[in-house]
Amino acid sequence: MKKTAELNLPDKENWGSRLGVVLAVAGSAVGLGNFLRFPGTAVNNGGGAFMIPYIISFILLGIPIAWCEWTIGRLGGRYGQNNAPGIMFALWRRAPAKVIGTMTVLIPVLVYVYYVLLEALCLRYAVEFFSGGFADTFQQAAAAGGSDVSSAVTEASSSFAKRSFGMAENGAMFGTEMLWYVLICFACNFVIIYRGITRGIETFCKIAMPLLVLCAIAILIRVLTLDNVVEGRTISSGLGFMWNPDWAKLWEPEVWLRAAGQIFFSLSVGFGLILCYSSYLRSDDDVVLSSLSASSTNEFCEVVLGGLIIVPTAFLFLGPGNTPDSTFALGFFTVPAIMHFMPGGSFFGGMWFGLLFLAAVTSSISMLQPATAFLEDGFGLKRRASVTILSMFTLAGASLVMYFSENLAALDFTDFWCEFMMIVAALGQVIIFGWVIGAERAFAETRRGAELKIPTFMPFVVRYITPTFLIVVLGMWCYFNGPDRLKKMSPSLQGDLAMRSVYEAAISAHFPDADDDALNTHVTKILGEGVSITAAIDLLPAWLRQVDEQATQARVPAERTASVARFVFVAIIILFLLMLGLADMACRGRIGKVIKQAEDVGVGLEEVA
Ligand code: PFF
Repeated sequence: MKKTAELNLPDKENWGSRLGVVLAVAGSAVGLGNFLRFPGTAVNNGGGAFMIPYIISFILLGIPIAWCEWTIGRLGGRYGQNNAPGIMFALWRRAPAKVIGTMTVLIPVLVYVYYVLLEALCLRYAVEFFSGGFADTFQQAAAAGGSDVSSAVTEASSSFAKRSFGMAENGAMFGTEMLWYVLICFACNFVIIYRGITRGIETFCKIAMPLLVLCAIAILIRVLTLDNVVEGRTISSGLGFMWNPDWAKLWEPEVWLRAAGQIFFSLSVGFGLILCYSSYLRSDDDVVLSSLSASSTNEFCEVVLGGLIIVPTAFLFLGPGNTPDSTFALGFFTVPAIMHFMPGGSFFGGMWFGLLFLAAVTSSISMLQPATAFLEDGFGLKRRASVTILSMFTLAGASLVMYFSENLAALDFTDFWCEFMMIVAALGQVIIFGWVIGAERAFAETRRGAELKIPTFMPFVVRYITPTFLIVVLGMWCYFNGPDRLKKMSPSLQGDLAMRSVYEAAISAHFPDADDDALNTHVTKILGEGVSITAAIDLLPAWLRQVDEQATQARVPAERTASVARFVFVAIIILFLLMLGLADMACRGRIGKVIKQAEDVGVGLEEVA
């Protein structure tokens, strides 16, 4: 029996062109992950050597999972479904399908509530550069900074970012101009979503993607032609600093974990966006080449544009010690400072943050469309209602992340749990593709309308290698991050740790000549073993008791951060359960009915001989 029918619902939307869908998926993939997260991760994890686990992850995770997602999405579209729970349920009438489907709606929404804040910060920085605000701030800092001008400017840049983001105190972000930028970003993103697939997403991505690539190329040319601006440092030594391989890093399992994590985040594969976008394809639209085109666009933007711009330039102007570990610090403390030193930096800085803003918008809209589609397909809501509900919901979420901004606590923890769910959701999708549908049958569906041949070993890869790799990644992820993150959710433990570190610092100042071993002995003798202070506080030596008050004060923010971590964890679980309930209701109701109609007109998988 050949089943190639398609359910044509009256208000079904489709992409206008192949270029449109490729640019939309590439737009989702190309974002802050490419231009900020990749260079920071690569330089801190072995430089050129990082590319080995990265390329292996790209081949064994990125490409196969993207093909699975494009195929499952296009197939789900034939059942009249553009929402992940409906698509999964159409293919597998079991509870786990609803669970995975729910995750793939929830993850993008959760990522959105913090990602939009970074988008707003990029917009603010672009305005600040173009309007000359940064030039004034940095000039003043440089003039007051004495001989160490680079540190003075970097310091001014970091305090601007910390103030904008309210990092010193919860709630502080509400008092800054950031609020307006966040609202502008919300308006931009939701207007595009409201206009729909072709008039909104496709039209915007067709303009934004070429524009941002052109801007990035212009900046790259500027950067690569910078030479001899700083005594003794050349741009080629900056490229060497970024890319010279540190082979020893390959023996560290965390490096492999970070490479796999980067591939997921950057390609946006495995957690529902491509699923949603590809459900708007027609049944014979090519998915093999489109998927590869979108992925290669992402890799070009990541490795070539992201990999050659920031870190080499930071090396050139600020020296080797200024590539911080965190994406946030690299992007928002370091980059503005290097733009200040670069000839024409105000213009190039504005252009850089402008392109980051565009890249963030094309990613943000892809995070909103899956939930919009879920509200529409699952409950029959009109576009206006679904967009209004989602905007209110995400605004409430973003407000919480904005409020709990001290040390970026809410942002950091939300990102952390999203990464975990991304791996689980990707594993779920690969299992549905390779085992529930069956890899051979599923790839027969992938091949429909394809111009390129899929390698014959691909079914084997998707059935065995990709899931095994994902299980190993998940295991490593839990092993390396789990215990530490669980501890971070305990206010009393975090309070103890903060107090202890104040006493430890005082002990180290009291014995300035002690080496590490001797210092450890002093610490254990005075404070006892473990994390808290096991010796009774009143028994501490008098010279140490001088920092009592400082230690008690250090407790408070540490306890607060741990409470935020706990709150984020509980909130995500509650949200997940609520969404699962909604997905279940929809699958029993409207979604189930439409799937039945589709089956009645003969929609299904082609049987392979
Ligand atoms: N791929 C995007 C980036 O590299 O910035 C990030 C992203 C987009 C993450 C969409 C999650 C998501 F749902």
